Amino acid sequence: MEKTFLMVKPDGVQRQLIGAIVHRFEEKGFKLVGAKFMQISRSLAEQHYAEHQGKPFFEDLVQFITSGPVFAMVWEGRDVIRLSRKIMGATNPLEAAPGTIRSDYSSFMSRNLIHGSDSLESAEREIHLFFNSSEIIKYEKAVDQWI
Ligand code: GTP
Ligand code: MG
Repeated sequence: MEKTFLMVKPDGVQRQLIGAIVHRFEEKGFKLVGAKFMQISRSLAEQHYAEHQGKPFFEDLVQFITSGPVFAMVWEGRDVIRLSRKIMGATNPLEAAPGTIRSDYSSFMSRNLIHGSDSLESAEREIHLFFNSSEIIKYEKAVDQWI
């Protein structure tokens, strides 16, 4: 089954939105298969955001993502990568559709609460950057057949 990497950023942790954000993905019917409350190092931040290296906002992004603890997760489900991005909403809260996490809870692109992998390749890469294979839990839920 498809997996994605989602992370409540430091602003979401500080604003006590971990529960609200996790709830959106639980309600959708996705399965949580890995989770970790952690502080990101500078080196991990640079690897995670490697695609943005050289851009004008890169330094701010690295500073921000290492500024406090994050809640890193792996979720599983059919089309979970694309559907999670829909639940999150557009990068810029000004463009995010109402009902999405970024529209409902944030108002500023640099404080947009959540990260989600944007493709199969980045999901693979990011999951392995943050989790060992032993930290991804395989289990069955009776409700799976109804989702
Ligand atoms: P992530 O899930 O965090 O990766 O967001 P995204 O995939 O929706 O956006 P993208 O990967 O393009 O950018 C990563 C993060 O950098 C965004 O979430 C923003 O916080 C920030 N960012 C992106 N573009 C800009 C920009 O033009 N200016 C500033 N200040 N920040 C930006
Ligand atoms: Mg991105």
